[in-house]
Amino acid sequence: MIRSVVRGTGSFLPERVLSNDEMAKLVDTSDEWIVQRTGIERRHIAADGETTSDLATEAARRALQDADLDIADIDMIVLATSTPDNTFPATAVAVQNRLGMHHGAAYDLQAVCSGFVFALSNADAQIRCNHAKRILVIGAETFSRILDWTDRTTCVLFGDGAGSVVLEAADVDDTNGRGIITSHLRSDGAHKSKLYVDGGPSTTQTVGHLRMEGREVFKHAVGMVTDVVEDAFDAAGIDADDVDWFVPHQANKRIIDASAKKLGIAADKVVLTVQDHGNTSAASIPLALDVACRDGRIKQNDLVLLEAMGGGFTWGSVLVRW
Ligand code: UT7
Repeated sequence: MIRSVVRGTGSFLPERVLSNDEMAKLVDTSDEWIVQRTGIERRHIAADGETTSDLATEAARRALQDADLDIADIDMIVLATSTPDNTFPATAVAVQNRLGMHHGAAYDLQAVCSGFVFALSNADAQIRCNHAKRILVIGAETFSRILDWTDRTTCVLFGDGAGSVVLEAADVDDTNGRGIITSHLRSDGAHKSKLYVDGGPSTTQTVGHLRMEGREVFKHAVGMVTDVVEDAFDAAGIDADDVDWFVPHQANKRIIDASAKKLGIAADKVVLTVQDHGNTSAASIPLALDVACRDGRIKQNDLVLLEAMGGGFTWGSVLVRW
């Protein structure tokens, strides 16, 4: 049986850190409100001229280094983003060129905050149908570019960054062996107006700004993510006690805590980075994975559960034996 095994991780954050206190100088907010309602303490913001492909390229380089591979070993790049460098071509193609890769294929995938989960599931399918042996899967965002910096209900929540993993085909005998075990993707466009960008090439011919009914998103988040996690548990024949690490999309600590509690996952198994990164949309899970791999928490053979929910709505889960 062919499985997609994670061979390496990497991430990259812009140098500039914006604290909650600095945010309170821009809009009517406070460190206390942001920490209490979201758990966010700071976020990274891209410098002038620093693009999504800049962050993605560096995250990919670090993942290749961690995997002890060269770009020549990679067959495909799948990049999740909602903040591409340009409307087209895909940001993945820019990254491909910057890495000196002129073979294989590179493409973007857009599922907003669920983007990395969708990209991982998509790359896993490519590997299992033998379309590729090794794939760079990247989540990269510069959400600072689409924020309305006068809207305190959204601008305090997001940050910029990128994370990447190298997936590699492996022949595995044991269904409980290493690699992606199962993934479950969902979407429902009925919720489009609760979280969207009010611009685009075919509507306004502008880039637009992020708009969100935060309370509405919050209301749906816990139920949706716990549903797809339970689908993953059923498919794999496991329960919450079998999970070693829970690496959720990092949007809001309250959503993460409530989801872990509902699923029965112990708090010390939850990887939390929202305090340092804010919500980096498709980049949040690979950023958190890289943090937890590099600090020694996630180790080979650990059972790692990923989940995300975001604009669309889209939501999904991936279960990986590391
Ligand atoms: O990544 C994918 C999706 N995104 C999410 O998962 C985000 C989901 N939503 C949330 O995380 C939360 O709903 C928020 C953090 C956005 C907001 O938290 P909340 O507890 O739902 O607050 P709220 O929207 O009900 O607002 C409470 C109060 C309001 O004032 P009134 O009407 O009670 O007087 C807001 O105007 O807080 C006010 N408020 C703020 N106050 C200080 C809203 N934003 C701010 C702010 N600073 N930045």
